Amino acid sequence: MSVNATSAIGDELSVINAKFLWTSATDYFAQVSTLQWIVTTLVLLLTFEQVNYLMKKEIWPIIGPFLESLDPKFDEYKAKWDSGDLSCVAVFHKFVVIASTRELSRKILSSPKYLKPCLVDVAIKILRPSNWVFLDGQAHVDYRKSLNGLFTTKALEDYIPIQEKYMERYLSQYVEYEGARQFFPEFRELLCALSLRTFCGDYINDEQIKMIADNYFKITSALELVNFPIIIPYTKTWYGKKIADDTMKIFEKCADKAKIDIIENNRKPSSLMEKWIFSMKEAKSGDQSNEETKLLSRDFTSREISEAIFTFLFASQDASSSLACWLFQIVADRPDVAQKIREEQLKVRNNDLSARLDLDLIGQMNYTSNVVKECLRYRPPVLMVPYLAKENFPITKDYTVPKGSMIIPSFYPALHDPEVYPDPDEFIPDRWYNATDEMTKRNWLVFGYGSHACIGKNYVLTLFTGMLGKFLLYADLIHHKTELSEEIKVFATIFPKDDLILEWKKRDPLQV
Ligand code: HEM
Repeated sequence: MSVNATSAIGDELSVINAKFLWTSATDYFAQVSTLQWIVTTLVLLLTFEQVNYLMKKEIWPIIGPFLESLDPKFDEYKAKWDSGDLSCVAVFHKFVVIASTRELSRKILSSPKYLKPCLVDVAIKILRPSNWVFLDGQAHVDYRKSLNGLFTTKALEDYIPIQEKYMERYLSQYVEYEGARQFFPEFRELLCALSLRTFCGDYINDEQIKMIADNYFKITSALELVNFPIIIPYTKTWYGKKIADDTMKIFEKCADKAKIDIIENNRKPSSLMEKWIFSMKEAKSGDQSNEETKLLSRDFTSREISEAIFTFLFASQDASSSLACWLFQIVADRPDVAQKIREEQLKVRNNDLSARLDLDLIGQMNYTSNVVKECLRYRPPVLMVPYLAKENFPITKDYTVPKGSMIIPSFYPALHDPEVYPDPDEFIPDRWYNATDEMTKRNWLVFGYGSHACIGKNYVLTLFTGMLGKFLLYADLIHHKTELSEEIKVFATIFPKDDLILEWKKRDPLQV
């Protein structure tokens, strides 16, 4: 038989085979259930991911990290940090490199040429693509400069009266509660109210604050590391986007009203939003050769202001609630610490309880402020922040992070470094009396570092020092401990796993 004949028979057989295969395949596929389709697709996708991961890292990964990312656990993060200076995981289509040392984390945070902050995929939909937080390079630097004025010492001073008013309102509510209750939700509401009153003043009402506080957790839960790329109605991401849109609409209306009051009615600014509008107004008639004045002298629309204010709420809400939970849990468990705070509070007020909070008074509260700092070190609300490699990034001389990877600097290990903070797992506020540069600068990654470092860091220290002093002066805190109180729950930031069960009792502030 000639070669050609063989190949003709072969061709015929191939056609028959193909027809047979096609018929069997169609018969087979007709019998396959939707569930089987989904499972098969998932297996194929995961296999693709594993191969992709292998090509980048050369070690066979496990599917575990994908599942872990759906329910992140502190111990698993800790195991990653302890496993080496650099470790990696594959989470679905993402190759993720985690840096655990201070030096590598600082290098990541100060390499804007190669890296930019990377929120989870769905964040861009929730926060809107036009939001300033997604700006990169010089555009980000310039926009941020126009916001700096909202967090100067003078601005922080102006926010204190409204914050004190709401601290007092919540304090009187807490001491009226019958018995103990979970304070995780209470503190989330408190912090939301304090932020919203600081940002929007009296343009926002109590009902709107309650609506935002009650629903805000839906935004946090929508921002899981792994999400479907599209927002499906009535899923977590859909609810998250809806609440974010509703909240931004409220802020936009507040900004419209504030513009009328500040620009047309010459009202004196007190809230953050009013300050921003006032600086815009001032800048227009100011010296245009001054860079900051020039940046401020354009018209920021109410929508733009609402988006920026939303980022402040977004950046502060979880982290500040986390700080509140650990701070009040710790002082309730440590009568020695509470006692020293109370002594200091009376001393700085000269026993005059009518003294109102201001920056000068808060500035004298050294011990109280050291307690806040120690809490931020001991239980840093933000464990790590994700960045994205815009280019191949040579993080060490031996390893280059591939472009497109997520790279995560970790803060917890630097803040628990025994060489910088001896007995790092002990809560020792007094260590801050003799703080070294390493403690306050190189290892102090609580608020990040570099061009994206937290814009609200002084705001946080001022607010919490004033609030801790005030609350302890007027209330005794009883912590109802459980075996989960010291366990760490990760919900964007970190919280006591039992959601902190506290009881508040009114006390005579003059008694030490
Ligand atoms: C305990 C409370 C807080 C903690 C622990 C915290 C921590 C952080 C951290 C770790 C970052 C990322 C830094 C980086 O990538 O280098 C950040 C960014 C940011 N934070 Fe905070 N934060 C807190 C409260 C606040 C508050 C109260 C505000 C505003 C009122 C705020 C506004 C921001 C903004 C706008 C950014 C993004 C800055 C940028 O990209 O330029 N944060 N914060």
